[in-house]
Amino acid sequence: MALYSEKVMDHFRNPRNVGVIEDADGVGEVGNAKCGDIMKMYLKIRDDVVEDVKFETFGCGSAIASSSMATELIKGKPVSEAMKLTNKAVAEALDGLPAYKMHCSVLAEEAIQSALTDYYGKHPEKKPQDGQHKTA
Ligand code: FES
Repeated sequence: MALYSEKVMDHFRNPRNVGVIEDADGVGEVGNAKCGDIMKMYLKIRDDVVEDVKFETFGCGSAIASSSMATELIKGKPVSEAMKLTNKAVAEALDGLPAYKMHCSVLAEEAIQSALTDYYGKHPEKKPQDGQHKTA
């Protein structure tokens, strides 16, 4: 059996949404201290929808494929869905990653979370409430 799925190879060879969004609403950068790989995500958000997303990844093939797939999974989706994207969902969408490469998909989840944290830092009024209603 091949080590990497066809989807992983496809997204590694032809990554989607590579690049920079100059006027991004949220930017997140994360890294893995062990392997030294770095991933940066840029989000353009309009009306609580991820209108555009781009990434730059200086890392292994699985990290590139994971970032590419993660951008496809959140593009055009409500921010609330992007927030819930897990590395497991990214790996599943890629038809799996070898166990020792799962941490590469974690970078994608963390980069999106980091970009959303940046976005909410700039737009606190957009932050979803935690569901606790204060009574007067
Ligand atoms: Fe570190 Fe893939 S080996 S992200």
